[in-house]
Amino acid sequence: MNQFASDVLEGLSAQPKRLSSKYFYDQKGDELFQQIMALDEYYLTRTEYSILDQFKGQVLDQFKSDDKPFNLIEFGAGDGYKTKVLLRHFLEQKANFCYMPIDISSNVLAQLETSLKAELPALNVTPVCNHYFKALEELKEEKERNVILFLGSNIGNFTEEQADSFLKGLYDALKPDDILFIGFDLKKDPKVILDAYNDKQGVTAAFNFNLLDRINNELGGNFNTSQFRHYPVYNPMTGTTTSYLISEKEQTVEIMDAAIHFKAWEPIHMEISQKYDQAMINGMAEKAGFEIIDAFTDDKKYFMNSVWRK
Ligand code: AVI
Repeated sequence: MNQFASDVLEGLSAQPKRLSSKYFYDQKGDELFQQIMALDEYYLTRTEYSILDQFKGQVLDQFKSDDKPFNLIEFGAGDGYKTKVLLRHFLEQKANFCYMPIDISSNVLAQLETSLKAELPALNVTPVCNHYFKALEELKEEKERNVILFLGSNIGNFTEEQADSFLKGLYDALKPDDILFIGFDLKKDPKVILDAYNDKQGVTAAFNFNLLDRINNELGGNFNTSQFRHYPVYNPMTGTTTSYLISEKEQTVEIMDAAIHFKAWEPIHMEISQKYDQAMINGMAEKAGFEIIDAFTDDKKYFMNSVWRK
């Protein structure tokens, strides 16, 4: 049995039922996420883009300290929409750097490389097809400063425990003076946050339902998605947005040889998207051992890009 199958069966046999949002991103899921990023309600991508555009000069000053060459290593680059603002500016400033997008999908990397060749032909690109930490292991020998980009508040899809261990692992894999440039979605008006995960067009709902379709297609499941409801909630005490799919009636779903029983109104926990405040960000940096050396935010204080140094 592959990892996807065993994770799905384990999660749906657990109490409460859960699925991992890391499985949202098949080809259809990637397309839906692209659509989400363009939605009016989904302020995250636009806001981070505006921060990078406004502060790209100061960002470069932090990355290149004393004009030293650096490796710009991106975790989860996707289509590079936001990163290209930085890359374009860095090239104009004749910065001495090599861009290294890291992804486990060779398909994503090939597409990104093609678009970069067309749009920024002067860019020095070395795509690395590997898991994040394995890729960093290989880079440990390099004498240039490593600058890690982890944008989009992707850290928010980890539980607190996962985030802490990811940041500690990253710290251990870096050399002294290496940099982490990390995006955080901030706590704000709960309605603004909830709307971002409950858009009027139902794209976010479709993004969640796509994982049930994926289970049907890849594992021979028989989920009837019309009998489930997408239900996101935001908890202003903790800053956590949690998305559920809720069974509207009692039913049994078959997946491979397993029969998964749902009571009426029983939820499946699908995803968390954590929102942060300054104290939480400071605490995370400190716990992992990093020093925060700079931070950039937008006028509404919706999002923050923070610069951490080992
Ligand atoms: C990728 N990640 C930061 C997105 C988020 O906002 O948590 C994924 C997403 N889920 C629903 N909409 C977008």
